[in-house]
Order: sequence, then C-alpha cells, then structure tokens
Amino acid sequence: MAEVIVVGSRSAAGALVAEAIERLVQQRPDAVLGLATGDTPLPVYRALAERVRAGLDLSRVRGFALDEYVGLPVTHPESYHAVIARQVTGPLGLEPAAVHVPDGRPLGIETAGERYEDAILAAGGVDLQLLGIGTDGHIGFNEPGSSFASLTRVKTLTRQTREDNARFFDDVEQVPVHSITQGLGTILRARRLVLLAFGRGKARAVAAAVEGPLTASVPASAIQLHPRATVVVDEEAAAELAELEYYRDAFAQKPIWDPIIL
Ligand code: PGA
Repeated sequence: MAEVIVVGSRSAAGALVAEAIERLVQQRPDAVLGLATGDTPLPVYRALAERVRAGLDLSRVRGFALDEYVGLPVTHPESYHAVIARQVTGPLGLEPAAVHVPDGRPLGIETAGERYEDAILAAGGVDLQLLGIGTDGHIGFNEPGSSFASLTRVKTLTRQTREDNARFFDDVEQVPVHSITQGLGTILRARRLVLLAFGRGKARAVAAAVEGPLTASVPASAIQLHPRATVVVDEEAAAELAELEYYRDAFAQKPIWDPIIL
C-alpha cells in the first residue's frame, strides 16, 4: 500500500518532498522528475527553489510534465508549456531543452502520445513522479474510466475538471475540452510516486485512492499497484481516511532501513 504522511501545512509537505528530491539528485545529478501542474505541487517547487538559491544544483535534472491541453497555444499563459516554464524550469534552473511537455498541437496529435512515450523511455524512465489528484479522482488528466494500462494519449476532460480549472481562465467555457496526458500505465512505470493533496475538497478522492477498491472509476487508486508510492496530505485532505491512526503510527515508528522514500 501507499505510505501516507500527514503534515501540518502545505509548506511542510513542500519541504519534505523537496528534501527527498535533493537526496535523489545527490545520488543521480541527471535524475528524471515527473512534473505535475496545478496548485498542489507549488509548495514543492517553492521549497526546491529555496534550496537552489542555497546552492543546490539542478541544472542536469531532466523533466517530463504529466499533461497538456490540446489546442491551447504554448504561448497561452495557462498552457502547461508556459506553466512549467514559469513555475519549474526557470525558478529551479533546469535546462529548458531537458524539460518536456506533451505536444498538444492539433496537427500531429495522433502520434504525439507515442512520441512522448518514446522520449520518456529514451531518458531511461522517470525516477520520481509528482502527482496531484483531481476532486474526481484523476491523476494527470486520466479521468474516471481510464485504463490502468493506458499510455500517453488524448483524453476528454470531465465537466468537473473543467469547472475545477476554470479559475485559471476567464470562465469554464475557455477551458479546453481535450488534453494529452501520460496514461496510468505511464505513471506506474515511474520508479517512485509522490501524490500530494491539500484541503477538504480532496478528502474523498484521497480516501478512495488510498483505501477504496482498485477501480478505473477512481484512476488514482492505480497508485495501490505501485510498490513505492507515498501520499503526502494535510489534515483536511486526510479527513476521510479510515486508517489514519495506523498511518500516523507507521510514520512515527518508521524503521531507518525502510526503503520507502520520504
Ligand atoms: P490542483 O489540481 O493541484 O490544482 O488541485 C490537481 C489535479 O487536478 O490533478
């Protein structure tokens, strides 16, 4: 099962995960990070940026974003090309050519998924994949019903996801209908998964992902299939976990030889 870590604040989550990433990069300076967008991973990027200012060198780190909107020009400030450049590549001092985002241009979209998979394989796979979770249980843009074996492909966004993301646009109708996203199968190939979730609005999805049945109806439940998955949540997002006391206890008693990451 996933290791669940309950933290007191978003910034505490960011500090914890940034430390794990620093350890990874010390072992492997050209580590491959799987990059998430949205509000959730921001504390991690902020904490990493602080470490970079303090001397951490991430210039050889490579990255693969989870997803992109289809048909939104890369120059649009809410395209994930733009978001990743603004929130990750620039502040962390990554080499722009080493940071990849799926190609959401309509021309050639039929082969964009396969090209992205090839690029991930050519990089040797993702070492650590950051994940947020949608209120509908999605990871990446793998909406309910997504196959656990799926690879990078085009997915139609649910109305719920478009409403959740409307805050980044003028209104919900401006949110693209289609995305290109790493599949659940792609995500499961990463060597480590770190799923973060904050706020009461995520509590139901987190409980379903961690403790619910393995089902394509809750795409994030796929993390139960991964041997090295860690879930970092605040108290609010942890509120519906039935085994919360066990997770707290397990983390407090964590043996020093425990191979799980954080
Ligand atoms: P959020 O989105 O981080 O903006 O809440 C998470 C997601 O939809 O995966």
